[in-house]
Amino acid sequence: MIDDSSRFSHIMPNQLITIDGPTGSGKSTVSRLLAQRLHYNYLDTGAMYRAVGLAILRAGVSLHNKREITRICNNLDIKFIHDGDATKIYLDNEDVTKAIREPAIDLIASDVSALDNVRKVMTILQRKIGSQGPLVAEGRDMGTVVFPEAQHKFYINASLEVRVDRRFQERQKRGELISREKVKKDLVKRDSQDMNRHLSPLRPARDAKIIDTTNLSPDQIVEKIIKDIVS
Ligand code: DC
Repeated sequence: MIDDSSRFSHIMPNQLITIDGPTGSGKSTVSRLLAQRLHYNYLDTGAMYRAVGLAILRAGVSLHNKREITRICNNLDIKFIHDGDATKIYLDNEDVTKAIREPAIDLIASDVSALDNVRKVMTILQRKIGSQGPLVAEGRDMGTVVFPEAQHKFYINASLEVRVDRRFQERQKRGELISREKVKKDLVKRDSQDMNRHLSPLRPARDAKIIDTTNLSPDQIVEKIIKDIVS
């Protein structure tokens, strides 16, 4: 873990909302809706790790080649461009919004996110974005590592079967031919990697509110969060 939070001391803890949780918990939909409702910026940190995974995959670099991965990471230009309600992610001026959602990127994003040099670079970038104004930041370590000072922290989760269903439907909508069993297997593997890694493992911050979204719609979750924030 790095601690250079003093460099970003102008981050306003009361204007930071962190939402962490596993795949299929609903955190992306909820974070986006919440940011729209509050007129806050929205930061999808999973997309950043996906962009790094894509760059490393394209470069054909082994995950053991730490030096080359660090070099690639340090030279990456990752940008978010907001276009109405949509957010596009650019990697070295190329729109990779769709490419990072390809199934092949799911696991490599999880793999690269376990590397300390990758996390260092991403954490600095995320804090920089956090210093630019009110923000809803979603990911795996927003409340624990990247923005520990945030005043409003949420950890959202749902039953495994519901998470698998959500992910399966998402992938079917994209026209992918995939079985529910395969989706479940991939999701369990990714959960295990993200929760059991040495660095910034996925877990709720001590001061996070935990919300079980198994039986809740995105709008109901957003309402719950807003109620909590204003209370
Ligand atoms: O949220 P997602 O599925 O798009 O994230 C892709 C991978 O990135 C996920 O398997 C774990 C990693 N990740 C992370 O380690 N830390 C974050 N803050 C966000 C994502």
